[in-house]
Amino acid sequence: MKFISFVFIVIFIRNGEGVNFSGGLKSNYTFPKDFSFGVSTAAIQIEGAWNEDGKYRPRYGGKIGISLDSNWAQPKTNSPSDIKAAELYLRTHVGWYAHPIFSSEGNYPPELIQLVDEKSRHQNYSRSRLPKFTQAEVDHIKGTADFFGLNHYTTYLLSMAETEVGQIPSHENDVGIVRVQNPKWPSMSSSNWLKVVPFGFRRLLAWITRTYNNIPIIVTENGYADYSGIHDDARVTYYCHYLNALLHAIHEDKSNVQGYFAWSLMDNWEWDDGFVSRFGLYLVDFNSQNKTRTAKDSARLYTSVVSSRGLPENYDPDDYTAFSSASKVLPTVLPLIPLYRYLL
Ligand SMILES: *[C@@H]1O[C@H](CO)[C@@H](O)[C@H](O)[C@H]1NC(C)=O
Ligand SMILES: *[C@@H]1O[C@H](CO)[C@@H](O)[C@H](O)[C@H]1NC(C)=O
Ligand SMILES: *[C@@H]1O[C@H](CO)[C@@H](O)[C@H](O)[C@H]1NC(C)=O
Ligand SMILES: *[C@@H]1O[C@H](CO)[C@@H](O)[C@H](O)[C@H]1NC(C)=O
Repeated sequence: MKFISFVFIVIFIRNGEGVNFSGGLKSNYTFPKDFSFGVSTAAIQIEGAWNEDGKYRPRYGGKIGISLDSNWAQPKTNSPSDIKAAELYLRTHVGWYAHPIFSSEGNYPPELIQLVDEKSRHQNYSRSRLPKFTQAEVDHIKGTADFFGLNHYTTYLLSMAETEVGQIPSHENDVGIVRVQNPKWPSMSSSNWLKVVPFGFRRLLAWITRTYNNIPIIVTENGYADYSGIHDDARVTYYCHYLNALLHAIHEDKSNVQGYFAWSLMDNWEWDDGFVSRFGLYLVDFNSQNKTRTAKDSARLYTSVVSSRGLPENYDPDDYTAFSSASKVLPTVLPLIPLYRYLL
């Protein structure tokens, strides 16, 4: 049995050069025998007390972890400054939560402590806006998770900010980094931030494995959003490319990934996008009395991956045509969404 507490935070990573989506990737690796698959439906918040009281793990042999949401951070160029920005972004975003639990030394990342301490001083705060852990707290928090749950969808490009960024004070302003995406990256998703960058997934898994001492990773969310339809070629292609990247992470990079959960089982409420942006393997007819569910092509793809433990024979790692404009269906309600954001 595995319990996960979920925290949403956006993350980043390093390691440069241009975009080469799939060149040279084979597609005939298979998932190891003990690798777990699943489909996510909802987040459950588990009290740290379960872990603390020392009762549940010994009694049930359960495992407790935390899920952190993280993008890959690619340096915008190969310049040392951009490489630094990508690493800094990662360490101050996912690292803010992960470092105290998974790093050998514990505590917040030293870069984050230094940045917030300095800014707070300049802003005339009587003490840092980042409270300090005591050594006893550092020791207590360190190593409290059995696995690293990772929610991952996309990749950003990072560079150092040349002027102040964000509100003052804010995490963005404290860290001083700018993130963008390459408009040429395939997407056509109903979630416009969701660029399809499989190599970012592979690099992120390697970074976590390397940075946090080979901690077992369970991918607790990964998936693609569209507007509707059961013939969801884009989602099928997204899963194939990302699972292919995962196979390479396991077999070639020796990233310690032990499980994978697709997001999500069925269409559901997607934050600000409501029911417009759909992540499901099953289509939900929200207008029907019974909220009728229909398997999409991606549900069949995922079933075949889980049963064969590999990708379909005809999978082509270089094929991105599913993300061409032809597959985009735009419902008329969509323009209203940005509008209501302005009104809030
Ligand atoms: C991507 O990598 C492959 C194999 O390493 C290479 O043949 C191809 O030219 C590269 N493409 C780009 C755009 O760099
Ligand atoms: C996997 O594919 C590579 C080339 O892409 C080929 O050389 C190799 O024999 C294949 N392995 C299996 C087990 O099919
Ligand atoms: C902090 O205090 C100093 C000295 O009173 C003042 O010159 C400076 O403008 C203050 N900084 C901010 C950000 O308020
Ligand atoms: C909804 O479900 C009920 C109970 O299974 C069934 O009797 C009814 O026909 C269904 N309605 C529709 C519109 O499918």
